[in-house]
Amino acid sequence: MPLTTADGAHGTYPLFEIAPALDRRLNRVPLGDYPTPVDRVDPTTLGLPPGGPQLFIKREDISAQGYGGNKVRPLELVLGDAQRRGARRIWATGALGSNHSVATAIHAHRAGLQAGALLWPQPVSLTARDNLETMLSLDCRVECLPGIAMVPLSVAAVRLLTGLRGPRDYVQAPGAAVPLGALGHLSAALELARQIRAGELQPPHDIVVGVGSTCTAAGLLVGLRLARYAGLAFTRGRLPIIHGVRVTPWPVTDRHRVVGLAYRTQELLARLGGPALSFSRRELSAGFRLHTSYLEAGYGRASAAGRDAITRFARRDVLQLDTTYSAKAAAFTLDLLASGRTRGPVLFWATKSSVPLPRADPSATARAPAWVQRWLSR
Ligand SMILES: Cc1ncc(COP(=O)(O)O)c(C=O)c1O
Repeated sequence: MPLTTADGAHGTYPLFEIAPALDRRLNRVPLGDYPTPVDRVDPTTLGLPPGGPQLFIKREDISAQGYGGNKVRPLELVLGDAQRRGARRIWATGALGSNHSVATAIHAHRAGLQAGALLWPQPVSLTARDNLETMLSLDCRVECLPGIAMVPLSVAAVRLLTGLRGPRDYVQAPGAAVPLGALGHLSAALELARQIRAGELQPPHDIVVGVGSTCTAAGLLVGLRLARYAGLAFTRGRLPIIHGVRVTPWPVTDRHRVVGLAYRTQELLARLGGPALSFSRRELSAGFRLHTSYLEAGYGRASAAGRDAITRFARRDVLQLDTTYSAKAAAFTLDLLASGRTRGPVLFWATKSSVPLPRADPSATARAPAWVQRWLSR
């Protein structure tokens, strides 16, 4: 397949290579620098004893210039969909300091779209504040939603509540957690399979990822199975277990929502002319473990284990973590490596962008709605 996008050393977008029909039927706006690298980390640099399982990090934190992290891959497909439908403004839905919203604000112009964000209050943190100030500086229109309880609601319900009924307003589900968005992470799993095939890492026994809206975990769950189906990797032996570390509360991260999204993603893949995978919900569920205790005090609140992980990963510049998402997933990773419950290798999926944000414009904050200014001044 010809190189149609800037997809890095491996040349093509893995999903379209495995399923060329999707290349014809989906409009993808290329944002990412792929493949994202895989780093091998000596676990002793994180304070773990020698001789334990191997640790690798999938560097999704540098997935794109301008802003990386795990929101880039779903955005490529969702922005393309909005563009094709003739939208003028693309809205993200999330908490006030949402990474998905700031990613949308930074990348929307690549599809010729304006950005908007439908946001609900969350605990103040440095990252959340920086994200919101960046959104405001980029002229992203910001509107208020009542709370995280909005997450399981459909996009249609959110549109109704916010009065955005015009065809030119494209409203994304929180975290782009719809089958179209999850296809982006499915492609990431195929990319990982190529990296395994190329000898960049051994097939992992465990993959650890934070679960917020469910999009990433669901896409990876199907993507690993597609990689095996296509003969790219994992053809002998078992598939890696996906360990989802809860970073937003139940019911947003109920395991049935993760498995349900994975199931609907495989259905969409087949409907678009891709391979007809037919895993049952039970089979998908068997490859997924949900870890709930690392959420501790709740969404957006730092945890003691997370803070410890931040310090240990920062000590030798292994990786920059954030308190809300990646630190909690990293805390589980450290416990898993120390527990003797895995032979490894363990692969940590680095979801938080480490690309510096554009400099915020203080005058944009001064023009923000009063409720936003109140939150920023806390
Ligand atoms: C940095 C970061 N990590 C992990 C997650 C969880 O990913 P997902 O929403 O795909 O479940 C999010 C979600 O917002 C995030 O921003």
